[in-house]
Amino acid sequence: MKVMVTGGAGFISSHIVDLLIENNYEICIIDSLEHGNTENINKKAKFYKMDIRDPGITEVFIKEKPDFVIHNAAQISVPASVDDPMNDASINILGTINILEASRKANVKKIIYPASAAIFGEPSYLPIDEQHPLEMLSGYGITKHTVEHYLKVYKSLYNIDFVVLRCSNIYGPRQDSSGEGGVVAIFCEKLLNDEIPCIYGDGEQIRDFVYVKDVADAYLMSLKSNINGIYNVATNTKISINELYKEINVILHKNIVCTYAPERRGDIRESYMSYDKINKKIGWEPETNLTKGLQETLNYYKNKLSR
Ligand SMILES: NC(=O)c1ccc[n+]([C@@H]2O[C@H](COP(=O)([O-])OP(=O)(O)OC[C@H]3O[C@@H](n4cnc5c(N)ncnc54)[C@H](O)[C@@H]3O)[C@@H](O)[C@H]2O)c1
Repeated sequence: MKVMVTGGAGFISSHIVDLLIENNYEICIIDSLEHGNTENINKKAKFYKMDIRDPGITEVFIKEKPDFVIHNAAQISVPASVDDPMNDASINILGTINILEASRKANVKKIIYPASAAIFGEPSYLPIDEQHPLEMLSGYGITKHTVEHYLKVYKSLYNIDFVVLRCSNIYGPRQDSSGEGGVVAIFCEKLLNDEIPCIYGDGEQIRDFVYVKDVADAYLMSLKSNINGIYNVATNTKISINELYKEINVILHKNIVCTYAPERRGDIRESYMSYDKINKKIGWEPETNLTKGLQETLNYYKNKLSR
């Protein structure tokens, strides 16, 4: 079976590609390298350096005839979507329509797509389940949710199966720690370098961190099963940013005191998500506890720094 993975040079997709190749899938990657890294690209995958908005995408799909599409390429920064909503919508909506049209013309059977906790806004109850009301606070939230509608429409018009995985905060090896990168990646790199990280707000914000390899498992299981629809992928576990920071210090046997800066506008106070639906449907559950996931992540950054 052949899978076209957009964004395959990025953090999450590169783990998915590695797992799919281990499971004997044939992989093609489309990535503009806007944000991803060629080091992340599995050598056994065929790579097209292309923007998902490129009109030539359909030709590639028709040539490669993928059975499945994993559409992960995206503009992923919430602040960037606020600063430049046109660019965000251009990549995340128009780029996605280009991928959907190419999929339709190439008779793709199923598309898997990652949505985000950014579509829920400040939760009205916890844990967040798939029925939770939506309250988008950024262009990014809007574009991630808009694609969910397009996928439903392509299912009803053209019978292309789809799975939306609404993921909580994903962390693990290969995550970008620069700019608006993930908080785990930033803490790991700073603490390994004996630098002092900064926490926005009082650090008592609650989040739900899911390990990237567990997320990759959710993609593989969704691909293999006959499920359609929207599913949360999370741990239903709460941890504050202060606790997360302390845990990384403990693993490293360090005690670096961080600084605090004013809370960022639009930061959500408390968010964690239930994964009951996907668990009941295909048996997925997070396998990696936070300590183990952080240890593996720290090992990755240690190796990276020693290179
Ligand atoms: N990281 C998280 O916690 C998280 C949570 C929920 C959902 N997601 C979603 O998962 C997906 C992957 O996120 P990630 O964290 O791996 O980000 P990433 O930036 O590491 O990966 C995205 C990839 O898309 C590529 N890309 C960007 N614009 C492109 C374009 N116009 N054409 C072709 N390629 C393009 C980038 O070069 C990059 O390799 C995104 O859709 C994101 O919205 C991420």
